[in-house]
Amino acid sequence: MKGLRENRPPLAERDKAAILHPFTVLADHLETGPRIIAAADRITLTDDSGKRYLDAASGLWCVNVGYGRGEIADAAAEQMRALSFAHSFGSCSHEPAIRLAERLLELAPGNMARVFFGNSGSDANDTQIKLVWLYNNLLGRPKKKKIIARRGAYHGASLGAGSLTGHATVHDGFDLPIANILHTDCPDYHRRADPAQSERAFSDMLAAKLDALIEAEDAATVAAFIAEPVMGAGGVIPPPEGYFEAITRVLGKHDVLFIADEVITGFGRIGHWFGSEAFGIEPDLITLAKGMTSAYLPMSACLIAQEIWEVLVEGSKRMAPFGHGFTTAGHPVAAVTALKNIEIIEREGLLENARTVGGYLRERLEDVFGDHPLIGDIRGLGLMAAIELDADKGRRRPFGPELKVGSRLGQCCWEEGLIVRGALDKSVAALAPPLVVSERDVDAIVERLVRAVDKLAQSLRAEGLWAG
Ligand SMILES: Cc1ncc(COP(=O)(O)O)c(C=O)c1O
Repeated sequence: MKGLRENRPPLAERDKAAILHPFTVLADHLETGPRIIAAADRITLTDDSGKRYLDAASGLWCVNVGYGRGEIADAAAEQMRALSFAHSFGSCSHEPAIRLAERLLELAPGNMARVFFGNSGSDANDTQIKLVWLYNNLLGRPKKKKIIARRGAYHGASLGAGSLTGHATVHDGFDLPIANILHTDCPDYHRRADPAQSERAFSDMLAAKLDALIEAEDAATVAAFIAEPVMGAGGVIPPPEGYFEAITRVLGKHDVLFIADEVITGFGRIGHWFGSEAFGIEPDLITLAKGMTSAYLPMSACLIAQEIWEVLVEGSKRMAPFGHGFTTAGHPVAAVTALKNIEIIEREGLLENARTVGGYLRERLEDVFGDHPLIGDIRGLGLMAAIELDADKGRRRPFGPELKVGSRLGQCCWEEGLIVRGALDKSVAALAPPLVVSERDVDAIVERLVRAVDKLAQSLRAEGLWAG
């Protein structure tokens, strides 16, 4: 047995021979191979060669309490021994799911009445689509089905959620979007506003365009609007001033539901339990995943407002059982993991930390990049921030996507021992470190980012791709 193992090819070769990687250029991967992470603690990852990286991306925006929490592992192991699985189909239940649902409803903004559990952000957003359709069917409005998402948004990659996502990479080749999904403008002030336009004027313009879209489609066919309170994977786009006020006014006028996708902004990322609180949004449906368990285990949830819940209950008297659900949803081990994670966020004051250290992060980024000729925009909220690279800073002109400047910056960061997130169609380095970061950690992150940006600037100049 020992001899056999010794004769195996290295892990990288075995990966290439066995795994299809998400959001990866498959042919390139076969050339370059994987980056193999072997261990993690707090905010640091170690790869299989022993090199260490500061993870300023919290994995995929999800490891809110940081890596290596023994108390989460203990809670999960204890639950696995006591009740390793119980489902929730057909009125079955268990205490961990009940306690977690109660906790989520306590923390949630607005008038949330029930929790539906899932396993990923994508399946939760698929559930939201189905809930919206069912709600309108039960109300006798079978035509009111269209859901409006925003270009640049990320809501997942499954058939429904991938359709809501506003990126060609997720649609092209997969025959998405499905019917009844529309897209409206991205509230990207840096890239899309007229330079003379105030943020408020830009927000009003976007709301007017949404209004026009709903009227053109016929409000009787438009059911819901979905938005991340701060767009994440689209490049960290906080709403411009007055945006959600103006948008919710339009939705109210046309009786259109608001789905808040809080998969990234939930659980403290921007200094509140939920991003909706920061903008006075009162959603009808909320999607949660990632930070709910800090990704120690997969879990997601849809929170359902009272008025929708009442329609579902009333309708259930006339129809078959609620015909939707997943085997492992509300899993007891994931539920205790989420409860322990929430306890840690509360006990360690991580919401407050996200606000104060997040403020410090933006200050440091302004200090080092405010006058940098390659950096056109610095933005963020709480522990969600981004720098965006401009080919011509004065004119806010972007680099062409074919230059892959964003992924080159990401690569320079890896070389400097720093992990950031790029964006699908922007030259961006997004920073969303675990909520436990200190100001000293931020100093170390920013120092490495400066080295990476300078390295990229030098190579772009040397290749004649940038004249700054
Ligand atoms: C806002 C948002 N919604 C939904 C999802 C999809 O979550 P998952 O990858 O768990 O399916 C993501 C993932 O990045 C996300 O950022």
